[in-house]
Amino acid sequence: MYGSSTILLLPLIIRPILCQQIYDIWQTTSNRSTLFSSVGPSSPINFVKPGAAASADIIVSDATKYQTIVGFGGTLTDSSALTLNNLKATNPGNYWDILQTMFSPEDGANAAGLSYLRVPIGATDFSAQLYSLDDVNGDTSFSSFSMDNAPSYLFSVISDILSINNILKVHILPWSPPGWMKDSGTMMGGSLKSNLIDAYPTYLLKAVQGFKSRGIPVFAISIQNEPQNSNPTYPSSTLTPATEGQIGAALRTLLDSNGLSGVKIVGYEHNWDDAGEYPVQLMQADGGAFDGAAFHCYAGSVSNQDSFHTAFPSKNIYFTECSGTIGSDWWSDIKWYMDNLWIGSLEHYSQSGLMFNIALDGDGNPKLPGTNSCGSGCRPLVTVNSDGSYSYNQEFYSMAQASKAIIPKDNGGPWGQRINVSVAGSMGWALRVGAYATGRVSSSDYTRYSLVVMNWNDGGSGGSVTTTIEFRGMQAKYTFPIGVTTLWWFASSTGPCQSGCPR
Ligand SMILES: *[C@@H]1O[C@H](CO)[C@@H](O)[C@H](O)[C@H]1NC(C)=O
Ligand SMILES: *[C@@H]1O[C@H](CO)[C@@H](O)[C@H](O)[C@H]1NC(C)=O
Repeated sequence: MYGSSTILLLPLIIRPILCQQIYDIWQTTSNRSTLFSSVGPSSPINFVKPGAAASADIIVSDATKYQTIVGFGGTLTDSSALTLNNLKATNPGNYWDILQTMFSPEDGANAAGLSYLRVPIGATDFSAQLYSLDDVNGDTSFSSFSMDNAPSYLFSVISDILSINNILKVHILPWSPPGWMKDSGTMMGGSLKSNLIDAYPTYLLKAVQGFKSRGIPVFAISIQNEPQNSNPTYPSSTLTPATEGQIGAALRTLLDSNGLSGVKIVGYEHNWDDAGEYPVQLMQADGGAFDGAAFHCYAGSVSNQDSFHTAFPSKNIYFTECSGTIGSDWWSDIKWYMDNLWIGSLEHYSQSGLMFNIALDGDGNPKLPGTNSCGSGCRPLVTVNSDGSYSYNQEFYSMAQASKAIIPKDNGGPWGQRINVSVAGSMGWALRVGAYATGRVSSSDYTRYSLVVMNWNDGGSGGSVTTTIEFRGMQAKYTFPIGVTTLWWFASSTGPCQSGCPR
């Protein structure tokens, strides 16, 4: 285990060290020779008195702090849970290896520490069949509400993930209200009937209570997945900002009066392109109930998140869904994900970074029978084949590099907070960089400073980039290969560099 005193006190005893040393580096290279692996260094890289800046010069200025990150992850659809549960039956060793590698938040573990799980309330386009948690027509008191309508493998896989990751945040949300509550009479398309708006919040309350009763604490609930989408081939439902605001306000009251005031309510859950409209109108309609808004990647651009942030700077932003498409290019995808999501979305104030399905087969199945969702196939974080073999996809590797930078250093301790960073020099364009500071449980332990660096200098004459890193008047040097690199060092949370550095 990295961070144990046996390993780290040794250099202190042998020789006085400079305050900051880079001693652990995780890397994924564009040619895939290294895939989310620790690559040393063989001896720590010291921050020393600055020499000339390299042609790429990363300037970390932790005087400017931004949002605290709450985690990376994906959606555990019924199909993802089924895929994993089938693997548990045929090859339990591979099942537990996947859960460990994806979800263990242990410091120094060979694992991504994914800690944010989005879980549907009822069926989605990735379910074996249509169902809600109350399919009894006209049951407006929800006396027939039953968690047992959902497949048991959904809960068992979440429990297994929780057994590995005790800081997991679970965010639940419906793709549709029960079909009998809608003008379409089905979960597939249409919208909530106006005379049932007042009844619906009780269904959502019961979902929060139901997950809790299964031993699954709920971090947040969204009112409706993609409220601007009505598709007759899978669970979907439109909802106006005014009605979503009304439901959110009533749900807030219900949660608070049932001892669930800590559960956050998140709104919108749809594409970047309407970031300045729907979620802004929603916060105007009943902002008091909502913690913030969640965004998906399928239309618009990540900078649209700024329109929401500018209108409601005190509201939180979550990036909760994007999907890879089967057949696309591995490295091109990683560049897009780092630029727009795992570094970019955070620069535009998001606290989280999630892909859609966590696990599916090589064709992006199973899906809801008859759905037209994901035309050529949605690619999950991990592909699991029927013979029990599996492979992580570009979505996982890029996300893992980012997650490693922000998971708590101490179990149960603070999460990484984004800090200011810029890249100067004639080769500055070649590096895309995010910087984070992770505080400690004990104030005598030093803060961890981490960088996520993508070198996308992959053109004809491209290659690795020799870089200087500036931090509080000290300088370190590192040469970044084409790919994504995560590295960190420890320093006191304030003040000048000191000698001797208790980590
Ligand atoms: C860092 O701060 C500078 C100056 O305030 C600002 O222009 C830049 O956008 C900031 N960088 C990030 C990544 O937020
Ligand atoms: C892959 O890229 C790394 C870093 O740029 C380089 O050191 C290594 O030689 C490359 N491997 C192959 C097989 O091309």
